[in-house]
Amino acid sequence: MCGIIGFAGREQAAPILLDGLERMEYRGYDSAGIAVRSATKGLQVKKTKGRLQVLRDLTQDGAELEGTLGIGHTRWATHGEPNDINAHPHVSENGRIALVHNGIIENYLEIKEQLQRHGVTFTSDTDSEVVAQLLEFHYNECHNMLEAVGRVLRRIQGSYAFGIICSDYPNALIAARKDSPLILGFGENGNFIASDVTAIIKHTRDVVYMDDGEIAVVTAENIDVFDSEMNPLEKKHSQVDWDVSAAEKGGYAHFMFKEIMEQPEAIRKTVSPRVREGRVVLDDLRLPAEYVRDISRIFIIACGSSYHVGMVSKYNWERLLRRPVEVCLASEFRYSDPLVDEKSLVVVISQSGETLDTMAAMREAKRLGARTLAIVNVVGSSIAREADDVLYTWAGPEIAVATTKAYSTQLVLMDLVGLYLADLLGTVEKSEYDAILWELQTLPEKLEQVLTHVEDIQYFASRYFNHNSIFFIGRNLDYAMGLEGSLKLKEISYIHSEAYASGELKHGTISLIEPGTLVVALGPYAALFDKSMSNVVEVKARGAEVLAVTTERFREKMEKTADSTVVVPDTHPILQPSLGVVPLQLFAYYVALQRGCDIDKPRNLAKSVTVE
Ligand code: AGP
Repeated sequence: MCGIIGFAGREQAAPILLDGLERMEYRGYDSAGIAVRSATKGLQVKKTKGRLQVLRDLTQDGAELEGTLGIGHTRWATHGEPNDINAHPHVSENGRIALVHNGIIENYLEIKEQLQRHGVTFTSDTDSEVVAQLLEFHYNECHNMLEAVGRVLRRIQGSYAFGIICSDYPNALIAARKDSPLILGFGENGNFIASDVTAIIKHTRDVVYMDDGEIAVVTAENIDVFDSEMNPLEKKHSQVDWDVSAAEKGGYAHFMFKEIMEQPEAIRKTVSPRVREGRVVLDDLRLPAEYVRDISRIFIIACGSSYHVGMVSKYNWERLLRRPVEVCLASEFRYSDPLVDEKSLVVVISQSGETLDTMAAMREAKRLGARTLAIVNVVGSSIAREADDVLYTWAGPEIAVATTKAYSTQLVLMDLVGLYLADLLGTVEKSEYDAILWELQTLPEKLEQVLTHVEDIQYFASRYFNHNSIFFIGRNLDYAMGLEGSLKLKEISYIHSEAYASGELKHGTISLIEPGTLVVALGPYAALFDKSMSNVVEVKARGAEVLAVTTERFREKMEKTADSTVVVPDTHPILQPSLGVVPLQLFAYYVALQRGCDIDKPRNLAKSVTVE
């Protein structure tokens, strides 16, 4: 949620800040702003409602703001509607301090009231402005910016990544973090702060991940990091190894389409290095074998699409491990007084590794004594660093808000982990183990076949894009896959859509089916294909239009009943969702395209959800 950036260097800051914000726009895009300190003009702030392009136009691509020190922000509104005034940076009353913030200050109202009693006037509705004003208050007392920041941090509650500049400090910006991501970048022509590597990868690969409670002072020459007691810290540097082009569209109209097309390669990168001599090898996993043997219960905790990966994995892991697996929405788990103990394995799944609900749930699980394993895409993210074990999906940067390749790589990584654990527990037959592992390795080629049928899906989308309500139905793994298909459609095309377990329709939802209702019937799951078909027949009998997704094996049967059929190759049953989900992603993409939606940046959403 929200992206922040800061630069202290030997070049003009504004163009660098704008470029970085553009690369982080997926984090929030309802308003944006920058503040630059100039030797002659002091602090200059430009901010506006709307996309980054509006800010670019307002500042003539940054040419209007002179200075080599600055901060920037792209916003996903929490407190206060998206407008020019609520946009960041926020400036203190005397105009001396400017601040950008990602996170939520929970006790802002109480502080605001105290400051108002001291005569401070507020202009915005945000929690962030309160911090800027509080900084001025303390700075006026101690006349030392670092000391003032320390006092403020002791006063505020909530989550934050801050970038702060002060007109009395022409060469330095201050950064601080707690529960919101923040990295430091060491460049040749200056140094950076940013919410995400994508914002600064053009300038440097040499980064430091800030930890909670840390404060950094960034100048063109140096970055000094301190703990909350202001003791200097030696931080470990990391090198970002992915290509700059990975975060660019590379000729595609949308990041989402590019990322859909990248799935075969992404899966290859997730699977290949982890298979050696016919075995799953998870070098990074330190989970002791005795712990695994003692596990009484497994929890999979996640949000959104990552939760849907958990839904698929529940079916697959229970089949492979013969242990109860519970899938929990992170936002629910945390407050549910969960029955987790030291015999529980808690698996958290998160593309960004920054989702606050997931992180909080993981902390709760740890507090209760469980061992935690994180399945994460973003290297060095908070969840990755806090989990007992982390396995990376290696999907590369995913920019479109609607996840595709991250979802697919999470699925296959969960399959690999499931196989690995089942082998340790002795709950999987060798022939089954070999068959699944073989099919996992052939998935990329089968996916490439699916992607050759892009035009068929485009055609179906052009037929169905006008529907107001679309149902996805299926049983078992098909149901779990339908949840993801339905979410993809909702989030980017804004069509109302629901996913139902087919057998559940007759208990209520079938009353919504009327002549012409579009039902996407999912039938790749072989074991229950005939049962699923009965439900397809039931909705047909009530006038539904049926678009089916099935496998080669069932093509003929399905074509007899459905109005349109998309066929994917057969694979091992537990891997079928990895193939079946791709037409659903493409369907959502083309429907959204037909409806003229903003595919990569759907309304009201953000890629990384770092608020509760
Ligand atoms: C999926 O398209 C969404 N962008 C969203 O549901 C996402 O999966 C969810 O917010 C969880 O994010 P995470 O994987 O980064 O934790």
